[in-house]
Amino acid sequence: MKKIILTLLFAGIVLSIRAQVLQWTESLPGVWKATFGAPESHNLLNVSGVQPNKDAINGMPQAALTLDIEGIQAEIFDGKTYLRFPLIEGEQIFGLGLNFQTVHQRGKILNLHTDHYGGKDNGRNHAPVPFYVSSNGYGVLVNSARYLTYYVGTGVRKNSKNPPVTKDRNTDKTWSSRPYSDAVEVLVPTEGVEILLFAGPTPLDAIRRYNLYCGGGCLPPRWGLGFTQRVPKMYNAQAVIEEVNEFAKRGYPLDFVGLEPGWQSKAYPCSFEWDKGRFPDPASFIKILKELGIRVNLWTNPYVSPESPIFKRIEPYTGSHTVWCGLVPDFTLRQANTIFGEQLLKEQISIGVSGYKMDEVDGYDYYLWPDAARFPSGISAEQMRQIYGVLLQKLTDNLYRSRNERTFGLVRASNAGANNFPYVIYNDYYSHPDFITALINSSFCGVLWTPEVRGSKSGEEWLRRFQSVVFSPMAMINAWSNGTKPWSFPEVAEQVKYYALLRMQLMPYFYSEFAKYHFEGIPPFRAMALEEGFLNNSVPEVKEGSLEENPYLEAVNKEIKDQYMAGEYLLVAPLFTGQETRKVLLPKGKWYDFYTGEYVGDGQEITVTPGLDKIPVYVKDGGIIPMMESRLKAPASGEKINIEIRHYGEKSGKYSIYDDDGETFDYEKGLFSWREIIVSKNKKGRWEGSISKAPKGKPDNIGKVTFLFTTK
Ligand code: GAL
Repeated sequence: MKKIILTLLFAGIVLSIRAQVLQWTESLPGVWKATFGAPESHNLLNVSGVQPNKDAINGMPQAALTLDIEGIQAEIFDGKTYLRFPLIEGEQIFGLGLNFQTVHQRGKILNLHTDHYGGKDNGRNHAPVPFYVSSNGYGVLVNSARYLTYYVGTGVRKNSKNPPVTKDRNTDKTWSSRPYSDAVEVLVPTEGVEILLFAGPTPLDAIRRYNLYCGGGCLPPRWGLGFTQRVPKMYNAQAVIEEVNEFAKRGYPLDFVGLEPGWQSKAYPCSFEWDKGRFPDPASFIKILKELGIRVNLWTNPYVSPESPIFKRIEPYTGSHTVWCGLVPDFTLRQANTIFGEQLLKEQISIGVSGYKMDEVDGYDYYLWPDAARFPSGISAEQMRQIYGVLLQKLTDNLYRSRNERTFGLVRASNAGANNFPYVIYNDYYSHPDFITALINSSFCGVLWTPEVRGSKSGEEWLRRFQSVVFSPMAMINAWSNGTKPWSFPEVAEQVKYYALLRMQLMPYFYSEFAKYHFEGIPPFRAMALEEGFLNNSVPEVKEGSLEENPYLEAVNKEIKDQYMAGEYLLVAPLFTGQETRKVLLPKGKWYDFYTGEYVGDGQEITVTPGLDKIPVYVKDGGIIPMMESRLKAPASGEKINIEIRHYGEKSGKYSIYDDDGETFDYEKGLFSWREIIVSKNKKGRWEGSISKAPKGKPDNIGKVTFLFTTK
């Protein structure tokens, strides 16, 4: 007995010795950093090589941390770092990766692990970003490339300063199987870690600081915001050209086509070489498409086939295990990057390929390398899993940067620090409602997501999916397996065309919103919870159900996971198959119908029945939406475009429209402009609009400007 007591005492002493007070330093205004123990050399931010946009962060208003920094605790025990961050009552937590079914994370346990999405928000997903943002207006990043376990307000310590009330389940109906918890606890499986805190004052400001710290969001080329079609995997050059011509003939917009595995001579594992049968002359194929105004994006996964020309050279720089019998390059090594990058450059990028879709970098435990794999650089397989998608984004981003060409591609895994890489995440999980929730959650973690359209069981489903993908970072049909085209459902072909063309018309607006993502860190598609005046209802609603089936039935928070903001002014509320009516929760302030300009409500829940032809879209009072003519392609560099500026509501409006060459990185040398649009009433009470001139020596692609005052 004595021995046990002594051991316990000793354990207590060891615990208290190893628990340290965290030393915080404000590394940039509103960005606080602390390192604890001995952090590993590979972490998420240094792997991606983030370059904070210091000027932009310095330009943000000063803000104090709305988090009890003294209350953050860390200790090392059992080879792991235990972190504890305070939570207060009424506080909601958002983020922690690309979740598909939930927006509120308080009350969840997540094990962040890069993986394909398996139908449950358990931390395994395509972007398990260890960053969360609080409704109280601060953000927390645990900068570790490990599988981290988050207990987000679930554990209750006996020494809690704010413990839950003990209740008697026999007599008290408010008894809960999950009593109140006052902390986020994180287990990091290493002896030390770096932590960053981002001040608000609003949750959106905290996200902005996080995005800007990671270099700002990406700025796609203009063509990247046009329409893209991915063609069936075994198409040959002729079939692709015919399909491109069909788009033009039928009057559907198209900016880039995506070729799927069949462009390569071998796939799964890949050769990274053109298939000479299907594509006998790749250079002239690309040239013909370029002349038609179409760019090409190529699918690939990174696993190297024994028949690839780089197999022998890259072999020493690959891991111990294979994926589908292909080598797994260790992209933390310069040599692997060089050999792989040279192959892409030589055979594809140098002849004009505009981007990649990097598949299968997320996982599925049964075909990816196991955590028992070894890599020649010495990095662990676990860390490799967390960063593999980021490493490939970095590699290809560098290839395009070195040519001063922007790209915009797809990737199936990402993580913290990749905010600036021009990639959009996609997957094979095909739930339309969950795709919208993922779009909402992407805004909490510095990634982009597309609710891609593949096939559909009916014209209704086709149109509903199409209507929402045009209000997303990448307007795409992925017809790799079933060959659907925008016009595949004749009963809705015209409506699909209307929305494809609307996407094109909205390009000046979306391009400006992406510029804000880049220069100001504001996510272009984002959660309602980030919108001022949105009544974020975090009051638990009791769930009905049988106690016998689930004796621990829990009250859940009402979440808004089916409507979102597209840029500064648009609120998008998609409908799903079978739905004719839906509720929309409008933030405080007046809102107007996008299509008619009519007033729809103010800070209230409205019920709408828009008909199949419409996806409900609402505009904030004073909203200004710059639109271009309806056209089939994005404007080329230097091309003048006429714009129509729409104004909505009763308030005067202001908007900054962004302009640059749309294709290169010259904006990084200052070759861009923001032009001020102002709409207000003149003395006679009539609406008037103006737009400032492009500053001398700066790009000026705006031609004729007209104004439309939509609200009568
Ligand atoms: C899947 C991918 C699809 C398609 C397909 C081709 O992994 O998610 O979008 O590219 O591979 O084999």
